[in-house]
Amino acid sequence: MDFKQLVSHCKEYGFIFQSSELYDGLAAVYDYGPNGVELKNNIKAYWWQSMTQLHDNIVGIDTAIFMHPKVWKASGHVDAFNDPLVDNKDSKKRYRADVLIEDYCAKIEGKIKKDVAKAAKKFGDSFDEEQFRATNGRIIDRQAKIDSVLGRMNDHLRDEDMVAMKALIEECEISCPVSGTKNWTDVRQFNLMFSTQLGNISGEEGKLYLRPETAQGIFVNFLNVQKTSRKKVPFGIAQIGKAFRNEIVARQFIFRMREFEQMEMQFFVRPGTEMEWYAKWKETRMQWHKSLGTPEEKLRFHDHDNLAHYANAAVDIEFDFPFGFKELEGIHSRTDFDLNQHQELSGRKVQYFDPELNENYVPYVVETSIGCDRMFLAVVSNALQEETLTNAEGQESTRIVMKLPHPIAPMKVAVLPLLKNDENLTNAAKDVVLQLKKHTQVTYDEKDAIGRRYRRQDAVGTPYCVTIDHQTLEDGTITLRDRDSLEQVRLSVDDARAKILSTTQMHSIL
Ligand code: GAP
Repeated sequence: MDFKQLVSHCKEYGFIFQSSELYDGLAAVYDYGPNGVELKNNIKAYWWQSMTQLHDNIVGIDTAIFMHPKVWKASGHVDAFNDPLVDNKDSKKRYRADVLIEDYCAKIEGKIKKDVAKAAKKFGDSFDEEQFRATNGRIIDRQAKIDSVLGRMNDHLRDEDMVAMKALIEECEISCPVSGTKNWTDVRQFNLMFSTQLGNISGEEGKLYLRPETAQGIFVNFLNVQKTSRKKVPFGIAQIGKAFRNEIVARQFIFRMREFEQMEMQFFVRPGTEMEWYAKWKETRMQWHKSLGTPEEKLRFHDHDNLAHYANAAVDIEFDFPFGFKELEGIHSRTDFDLNQHQELSGRKVQYFDPELNENYVPYVVETSIGCDRMFLAVVSNALQEETLTNAEGQESTRIVMKLPHPIAPMKVAVLPLLKNDENLTNAAKDVVLQLKKHTQVTYDEKDAIGRRYRRQDAVGTPYCVTIDHQTLEDGTITLRDRDSLEQVRLSVDDARAKILSTTQMHSIL
């Protein structure tokens, strides 16, 4: 299923709507519909429970979006949370300079892939892609070009050399996708924080920011949490909450939004032990993704080429989205940068007394940070598929099915009376809903033929359907249909409930 189909499926089945659609929408802002909010809440619950419930040295917190403006000065966001921006003077369109350059390299990569595919077709089974890439002159030249351009771009970004960024755009002869011209402004840094104003203070003094990450709420509460929870280093603080970034490039649906949700955990450790913990959290987080059933080949690590101003090591967990491998989660060794900065700007000590070492120190921090919306997109793009089915007579049909892991599906079971107009059946079905709804997420559907109702549930990922027919009225048994195997078995309501709960509760993937 391609990306466009995924986006329209999300709208059609009540997962995601464009924000303010009535007014033609607001770019890069989205609303979650009835199925979307259930799925998103389940993803959050999976993260929250595995972080806090399964680790006795991690506690939760929920901090405010607004923070004292000095927080963002201390964290470096006021001075360094920038993207390089460039405008095309003819189309008046604004771009991220690094994205223009990356797209240019992606086009060259596309040409390489075409050559490889052609050769693979020509040589058949005897084709050795690695050898072909290493020996074909045209591919070697193209790869060298990509490596050189990306290498220099990363150097310029690190050095904040915007003049060199513009020269690179010109050297690559990149033109505006809208106007087709190469008439560019200078490249300049653009701060990504949204700001607003306090009601009772005018001017700069009253300027507030909408937080661009949830992490700072954890840093400034480090001592509050440590003292009240009596945790000893190493320990962590977890938080789920909204973050805001004035992204210049807003595309790829909920991949890059201006308002989004983060699930972050800051793990405070003894100085000098951070690399051990960094390695441990890399593995733990990768395992979390695999436990949800994400195939290994769709996940990979990618070390950062450019370290953020606060990090001494950083890696992304990338997922193979419909538009290629992209960052899903970041694991960063943030050193003692943030706590030190808050100590300096607040003038208050932010230190931990380590009873085993008998000394005070500013702990080092390893953070894990994942976008909830990006995780949602990864989950849906992994689960949504078009399947060809063959019936007993050998006839083929297709169905759209969202093979979500059972515990995070919006609804776990749909209860369906065989006929809408038979009150005995609809009453029996409503009685089954009553028996199930205290245990799990249940939906009821009586509209349309049973086959269409099954397809509707497949399309939103409901793992089980319970069908009520005339035999139910006689012996109390129902038919339980499995979304993936399509197997149908006759069971008592109690046995069906036990079967449903055995695969749909969160502990089965924790
Ligand atoms: N506290 C560290 C931090 O915020 P980040 O790499 O900038 O690090 C962490 O962001 C995660 O937040 C990313 O891996 C991504 O999943 C998510 N994220 C970042 N910007 C986003 C955006 N504009 N829209 C949706 N998700 C975003």
